[in-house]
Parts: sequence; C-alpha cells; structure tokens
Amino acid sequence: MKQPSRRTVLLSLSAASLLPACGRSSDTGTASETTPVRDPEPDPWAPDGTEDDSVFPWGVQVGDATDSGALLSVETTAKSLTLVVMQGSDGEWREVDREDGLTPQDGHLQIELTDLSPDTAWSVVFYEPGGARSAPARFRTALADGDARVVVFGATSCLGGNTPWPSLSQAAAERYDFFCFLGDTVYADGSTTAADYQWHWDAAMSTGGMRDLCQSTGLIVTWDDHEVDNNWSWQDAGIEERFQNALDWFGRALPHRTGQGLAGIWRKLSWGDTLDVFVLECRAERSAADGVYLSRAQLDWLKAELSASTARFKIILNSVPITDFYDAIGMLAEDDRWSGFPEQRAEILTHAADIQGVLWVSGDLHWGALSQVDPDGGVAADQHEVLAGPGGSFLNIAADLVVNREQYPILFAEWNHTRFSCDPGTGVVSVSFIGDDGSVLYEQDLSL
Ligand SMILES: [Fe+2]
Repeated sequence: MKQPSRRTVLLSLSAASLLPACGRSSDTGTASETTPVRDPEPDPWAPDGTEDDSVFPWGVQVGDATDSGALLSVETTAKSLTLVVMQGSDGEWREVDREDGLTPQDGHLQIELTDLSPDTAWSVVFYEPGGARSAPARFRTALADGDARVVVFGATSCLGGNTPWPSLSQAAAERYDFFCFLGDTVYADGSTTAADYQWHWDAAMSTGGMRDLCQSTGLIVTWDDHEVDNNWSWQDAGIEERFQNALDWFGRALPHRTGQGLAGIWRKLSWGDTLDVFVLECRAERSAADGVYLSRAQLDWLKAELSASTARFKIILNSVPITDFYDAIGMLAEDDRWSGFPEQRAEILTHAADIQGVLWVSGDLHWGALSQVDPDGGVAADQHEVLAGPGGSFLNIAADLVVNREQYPILFAEWNHTRFSCDPGTGVVSVSFIGDDGSVLYEQDLSL
C-alpha cells in the first residue's frame, strides 16, 4: 500500500479506535465542547540581568513535576547561587520565592521545589553573586487528584545527530504540560570513565534545541541502551563502573525522582484524573538467558498500577517498542525488543487488554509510527503504540518498505517530535508528528 499522504490519515482501517484527525485547535489542546483546557499563561518570563552561558552552560532542567513540586537541576561554575521562583497567573509573573546561598557541589545543584499549587505555570532562574544568570525555565505543576482537563505533552527519542535538534526548538514553542525523552538522548557508546559520560551530556545539554526545550517545560524521562553502551549487558567487562557513571550523569542532566529497581528509574507520575505516566526501565533488569525483559518486580508493579489507576489515560513510556513489527522488519534485532521475550510480552499485553485508556509510547527504531500493537486477531490488536522521534539519529529507511499499512497506519522516517493532546472527556488522544520546520507531518486521533 502506498505511503499515506501527509496531514490526512487514513482511509481504510481495521481498528475501530482510529478516528479522522481533527487537528490542532490551539496551544492548549484540541478541546471537546465539554472538557476544560489549560488556562492561558502569561508570555514567557524575561528575568532581569544578563544570561551567561559560560556560568550556566546547560540552562536549568526541571523534572518529574507533581501537583505540588518539581526537581530543579543546574550545572554551573558559580560557588553560590540565588534561586528566584515566579508564579504565572492572571496574565503576569509574580515572585513567590527567593533562596540565597545555595551551594553547588562539584559544579552541580539539584533541589526540589515543594508546596506549589497544582496545575499552575512557574518560571525559575538562578543568579550567581556577580549578577549573571541562567536561562529561565518554565514548567507546569501537575493536576491534582480529582481534576481533569485536556493535557498536552510532547515526546521524542534518539538524538544521535542532526544538531542543533530543530524539532526540540519546535517543541519548545508549544509550551507543553511536560515533555518525555524515551531514551538514546545521548550515544555514549564506548564510554568508561565519568569524564567520558560527562563529555556526551555536556554536548547534548548545551545543544540549541535542548536548551530551548528545557526553557519551555518540565521533563519526564527514561533511558535506553546508548546512555550506557550499545546493547550492553551485565556480562560486559567493567560494566558495573560504567553503569554507575552513566546513571550518575543521566540523573545529573535529566532530573527525575528516584524510582524503583536497579537504576531507580521505573516510577509513576500522575496528572490528575486525565492521565498517569508509567515510566519503564527496559535495560538494567534484562536477562536474555532467563527470558526476563523487565524484572518480576517491575512487571508486577506495572500490572498492579495499571489496574489501580483511575486516570482516563495510562501512558506507558517504553524505550523499545512492544508492537509486533514482524510484517515490517521480520525478526531483525528481535532479541533487542519485547518480541524476543514472548512470555513477558504476552503477560503484560493480556493484562492491559482489559484496561481502558492504555497507550504505549516508544522510540528506538529511528522511525516515527502509530501502530496496532498486534495485527488483527492478536491479544493486543486493540492496543496502540506511538513511536516518537527520532529527533536526530539516522533515519531508518526500512520505513519505506513496510507493506502492512493496516497495522501501521503511520510509519515514516523523518526527524520529528510527537505531540499528544489527551482529552479525558471524549477519551481521544490526538497524535501529531511535528517535523524540524514545525509542520505537521502526520496526525491521527485515537479513541482509547
Ligand atoms: Fe537510537
């Protein structure tokens, strides 16, 4: 079948949950008539003082916002810092907190803001004693339990080239509720020492698109293999030290709350009654010899939390796709994917089949896609997965060879980030793949 034409997808689909795309109506989401959307925010805050990238080379990163707090992270050459916190409401920015005498350790400071109001815009900036400042960073706190509105977030994966990552600058313009990195944010293959990993993160975090994005919204992140090494395993020489160095720099660059498991990455973030985000860690607990893709603890946690979630949407961040791509790429690299672990794959997909609102979000394959997780007749034929990105890695030309367009209504090789507008009133997630120039490459509504 022919590649679907841009901006309109698709004519004949087997899955009843695919709807015609209704497009982007505003920067706060595609609203149904009854579902509230985000309140308007003031224009981005312009703090006093001169931004000095030699003192603050990465700007400020914000991670894992809850309904009352968020983590802040800054790299700096300054010995002492002042933090200013602004709240955006009623069309203006108002200073609500100022903390002097914050002391970075080893050129780094990471702190948690607490006691913030839910579903509110915030902007933060750091000053050094001489008056130079970082770039500011805006973010939203999450919705409180019991609250629901259209939530709009972005995602991408695989940033191995194509600097300065224009699709991230396009994402910044959207001022998302949050943005997800799905893994392969750096390609640190061959790194061993802390300095090696630092080099890769220095390069990534000071790249223009990344700096723009971090100014615009908070992050929810996981990693894949390349943050440590290509397809690494615990049998590799010296891997314990490399793993620790990789993990230290991953957490330093992309702040996230300490989750569970070996890497402390798998965890859940809640955005009120609209959506829960389940962040998987798909690398450190694998044992190919035992058929283990996720540890029993992580798999049981995911099943229990999916069942317990009362949010309308359950967004699963999954660095490597769970879709059956046999009709696209056969068994290629199957042992790198969920498909190489059929028992665990069947277990979670069977469990999720009875749960409303599940959406898998992945990366890794260097193509963008919207797929049925299983072909018609499979246990997960009614589940969907979105492959966001690649943001910069080489484009996988195998996307042009795929024939089963019923299962993969969108599958293409262009750099992009992906926009998800989640309407809890209608149960529709509007998915838009946005290219380096800001144009919508493909879009599709999913009724979940
Ligand atoms: Fe990649």
